[in-house]
Amino acid sequence: MIGLIVARSKNNVIGKQGMIPWRIKGEQKQFKELTTGNIVIMGRKSYEEIGHPLPNRETIVISGSKSFTGDGVSTARSLEEALDIIGDRDAYVAGGYRLFAEAIPFVDKMYITEIDTVIEDGDVFFPEFDTSLFDLETGETGGDEIKFTRTVYYRKRK
Ligand SMILES: NC(=O)c1ccc[n+]([C@@H]2O[C@H](COP(=O)([O-])OP(=O)(O)OC[C@H]3O[C@@H](n4cnc5c(N)ncnc54)[C@H](OP(=O)(O)O)[C@@H]3O)[C@@H](O)[C@H]2O)c1
Repeated sequence: MIGLIVARSKNNVIGKQGMIPWRIKGEQKQFKELTTGNIVIMGRKSYEEIGHPLPNRETIVISGSKSFTGDGVSTARSLEEALDIIGDRDAYVAGGYRLFAEAIPFVDKMYITEIDTVIEDGDVFFPEFDTSLFDLETGETGGDEIKFTRTVYYRKRK
């Protein structure tokens, strides 16, 4: 099972100036719950933003320019190479833009948290995708001044 996890604003922004442009209590809980004990695949910039290995899970950083090793962290030069390392184990693609765009054609599930805000001057967006290929399940809402809604897109099986 290859999953994807993202949080996006109403205008599809996922990043601004190298960071996630909101802090909402409880919003990142789902990321931890889903990925703990599993494998996370992320781009080099996203990994550098976090700045340290994520505990209790294996992280594969995709980078053509740098190598990351140790403490459950390894490096792959492409998404394809990461998928070879994973084999038939479960993994979650955690961004950014290019990884999402490359992974959407074959992910089984997308956990998309819809953040109820509009971000001006965002510089990284979630790619457009064909929603007709997925069944949508809407889940819980949460948040404080800014609300969020959990959604899961399940790929339709032919
Ligand atoms: N809202 C969310 O859920 C969410 C999730 C993740 C990230 N973000 C935000 O998104 C921004 C970072 O995303 P980003 O798209 O700018 O960068 P990114 O994907 O995190 O990192 C880009 C780098 O990763 C490597 N890379 C990515 N895809 C690759 C591929 N398919 N093949 C080979 N190398 C690949 C390249 O590294 P090299 O240059 O080393 O070759 C590339 O320069 C930040 O603002 C972050 O906060 C938001």
